[in-house]
Amino acid sequence: MRFDTHPYGVVAGFYDELAALYSLGRIPATKRLQRDWIARGDRVLYAGVGRGEDALEALHRGARVTAVDLAPRMLERLRRRLGREGLEATLLVGDVARVDLEGCFDVVVANYFLNLFDQAHAEAMLARLVERVAPGGALFIADFAPARGGRLGRWLTALHYRPVNAIAWALGLCAWHPIFDHRAMLGRAGLVIEAEVRLSLGCGPDPAYVSIRARRPRQGSEEGGGAGVACAGASPSARPSS
Ligand SMILES: C[S@@+](CC[C@H](N)C(=O)[O-])C[C@H]1O[C@@H](n2cnc3c(N)ncnc32)[C@H](O)[C@@H]1O
Repeated sequence: MRFDTHPYGVVAGFYDELAALYSLGRIPATKRLQRDWIARGDRVLYAGVGRGEDALEALHRGARVTAVDLAPRMLERLRRRLGREGLEATLLVGDVARVDLEGCFDVVVANYFLNLFDQAHAEAMLARLVERVAPGGALFIADFAPARGGRLGRWLTALHYRPVNAIAWALGLCAWHPIFDHRAMLGRAGLVIEAEVRLSLGCGPDPAYVSIRARRPRQGSEEGGGAGVACAGASPSARPSS
């Protein structure tokens, strides 16, 4: 195994377990429910795939998966799982905004990914990802959910989110920022929200996690077709990392 000094490489061995524990299982649950949104044969791009439990689910559904991550060690763990389960995917080490990808994807997935960046960079990254979605295709996001339950909800959400945001920021894992208003961001990116599932941590509405499916309108459709540049070509092709 290569030595990996990327901050996410250092936590690769226990990241998924810690996320599951901290969220009382809601983080993996928000990703798991997306498997019903994926159809056999879909071309799916995972941005910042990490260890890729969600990508494995998609492969079991019969999707064709391309997965990108900056941390080689994350992808190394995914590669081993693929080998054990007899599955194949294209794994690319690099920045998903710069990596050599061609063509469109039916689905682009950004799970617990945009929240690594501050608001401006997250919006820029989202715009890059939307460019990779085929017109009529979808973008999925799983993330921390903004509070819904008034002042108490905002307070409980901050109590749950801010300490981990501060620790992750101090370790260089993410930017310091409030939970994003994903609905507004997706709207600004020209996408139409089709499904949104909130999984609360306890019995009230907050704190919670969310999984969203948003559609990129077809060019010239009644919905507007307003999302960025259309990606060219029907099939994605990418240069594998190994
Ligand atoms: C918070 S983790 C989430 C991983 C996975 N999506 C999940 O839900 O478990 C973020 C991942 O994004 C990767 N990453 C960070 N910046 C990236 C970039 N610009 N391009 C590709 N991957 C990136 C990190 O290495 C890390 O594995």
